[in-house]
Amino acid sequence: KHISWDVQAAQKDGFKHFMLKEIFEQPKVIRDCLTGRIQKGRVVLPELDALNVPQRLTVVACGTSYHAGLWAKYLLESWARIPVQVEIASEFRYRDSVFLPGDLVLTISQSGETADTLAAIRIAREAGVPILGLCNVVGSSIARESDAVVYTQAGPEISVASTKAMCSQMVLLLLMTLSWGVRKGVLQGEILERCLHDLPLLPDQLEAELPTIREKAKTLSQEYADARSFFFLGRGQNFPLALEGALKLKEISYIHAEGYAAGEMKHGPIALIDQHFPTFAMALGDELLQKVASNLQEVQARGGRIIALVNPGASPAVENPWVLSDAWGPLKSFLVLPAVQLFAYEMAVYLGKDVDQPRNLAKSVTVE
Ligand code: G6P
Repeated sequence: KHISWDVQAAQKDGFKHFMLKEIFEQPKVIRDCLTGRIQKGRVVLPELDALNVPQRLTVVACGTSYHAGLWAKYLLESWARIPVQVEIASEFRYRDSVFLPGDLVLTISQSGETADTLAAIRIAREAGVPILGLCNVVGSSIARESDAVVYTQAGPEISVASTKAMCSQMVLLLLMTLSWGVRKGVLQGEILERCLHDLPLLPDQLEAELPTIREKAKTLSQEYADARSFFFLGRGQNFPLALEGALKLKEISYIHAEGYAAGEMKHGPIALIDQHFPTFAMALGDELLQKVASNLQEVQARGGRIIALVNPGASPAVENPWVLSDAWGPLKSFLVLPAVQLFAYEMAVYLGKDVDQPRNLAKSVTVE
């Protein structure tokens, strides 16, 4: 099989693991994903031109790419007013989905070779639904079988646990949302302006902050290394990031972790909380902060220890507030993502696990 990158580029660049290198590449990934995509106050995504703005969108993906899809749902609904369902490919392929005129299937895949996602594309094709692929690997099966492809510019991702690919998917999903929102005439001017102004500032902000995030992740991982289980809690767009934080921790440190919508804790999971079952929360300074804070009070009242990602000046009282610099609206997520990635990374390193080649996992799952 043809390998479309050179071996030199795939080296670790002085980092101990590919995963760490790829986490630290995220500022560059954001820059590369934005290159040529913002011009004169407009989003440039000619790949979408041949497709109608979807009346309804079904996003299909697996693993980390699925979490990127869930994250985008919040934006697509709020800014582009497109109804969105996000599906795990292995479920979608064996269900009898109902398609309507105006539907679009969007598949998200780093590798472009995931068997379940590919099967989903074939089902959509049979049903006559147009397919858009969001893919990292040029010329991959998913890219070839989609009607239109948007490529993420993440570069080769070597670490089995996906990191920078999700960051790149989020950037492109954000740009797609803006593009469709404008085409439909529903996106508010201030949102477009603010977003296009702030997005290009993000790489420098992240670059400056990554070393601090890593230090904090290291300290906390040592403090919590004896935990057997973790909850990751968030609301709104932080809910998919909570799912991703839990997935990363499971994948490479083999600590049981569950991502949960913070507001759903009271419906069962809170029964598990005691001083040995810590919570990793996203409590950023957004419109849902008060709601999250009250969910966390419930956890604390049951003796649960809490690490919470917070913004300056807006922290609920928890054992371990972890202050991230602020960013506008959904751009906060680009600081949250590396924090959960680095927490999992430092935990795995501290516990002596094989970070780049975790047991039982494959980079690309090309069989069912
Ligand atoms: C595997 C990898 C995950 C990845 C998932 C989906 O399980 O270990 O890191 O998120 O496949 O891969 P894709 O290439 O379709 O994004």
